[in-house]
Amino acid sequence: MSIKSGLINGVATIEIARPEKKNALTIAMYEDMAVALQAAVDNPSVRAALITGQPGIFTSGNDLEDFMQRPPQGQDSPVFRFIQAVLAFDKPLVAAVTGPAIGIGTTMLLHCDLVYVADDARLAMPFASLGLVPEFAASLVVPALMGQRRAAEKLMLGDPFTGQEAVDCGIANAVLPAAEVLPHARRMAERFNALPPSAVRQTKRLMKRWSSDTVLQAVGVEGEQFGAALRSPEAREAFQAFFEKRKPDFSRF
Ligand code: COA
Repeated sequence: MSIKSGLINGVATIEIARPEKKNALTIAMYEDMAVALQAAVDNPSVRAALITGQPGIFTSGNDLEDFMQRPPQGQDSPVFRFIQAVLAFDKPLVAAVTGPAIGIGTTMLLHCDLVYVADDARLAMPFASLGLVPEFAASLVVPALMGQRRAAEKLMLGDPFTGQEAVDCGIANAVLPAAEVLPHARRMAERFNALPPSAVRQTKRLMKRWSSDTVLQAVGVEGEQFGAALRSPEAREAFQAFFEKRKPDFSRF
């Protein structure tokens, strides 16, 4: 089982557990995460949800083999269902970034409420380097958070960045020693047990309300371009190079 979900002390915990592939997310894993989030919405004893990875890895993003073999087909695909489930999740969503967070590993953080990052973790959104375009409204949210110039380094050059930079630009709340990330994130999530649940949910809904239409629009526009980019020769070269453990060669494009 690559996604482990459970309820611990009022906190629905979603653990990405595929360490042998650096927690790369498959179609089945997106489906499981979407189902787990919906179950957390439906269960009144859940006061918050926590997404975490394994020691030394949060997630390496979408499984690149899945991207090649089974690219997502429109708004009904499991990855879109996961995106919609995160965007619609109106209880507190906390992330414990236990290690590298690549691609959707970073973009999902843009939509969490509290984010804690291990001091040795690197974040990256290397979509353009893979022949792709941003997803999960990153093209909207990242420039809004950090400004066009810093966003260009992250989204156009695909530069990785540290947890401290994620804090500085508003993606994360705090950087912690790796062993303390998960316990700290859990303690923060459990604080919601002592708060009035309706007021917390309404507050989150209000905080999201003023941007939610634009975010959904960005997800849709990006999704169309992402689907087309996945079938491009540039993406094929990037994915093949990854699996052949070589540098991609984009000189012929
Ligand atoms: N999709 C599919 N397989 C992946 C993967 C992914 N996103 N990320 C890692 N893997 C696999 C590797 O192919 C390798 O498999 P193998 O043992 O069968 O050869 C295994 O996981 C270990 O990965 P490796 O690259 O050797 O680990 P590392 O510690 O040197 O590097 C990462 C870790 C996360 C930095 C690196 O794996 C990476 O950059 N992954 C791709 C990230 C990416 O581009 N994601 C897509 C964003 S849209």
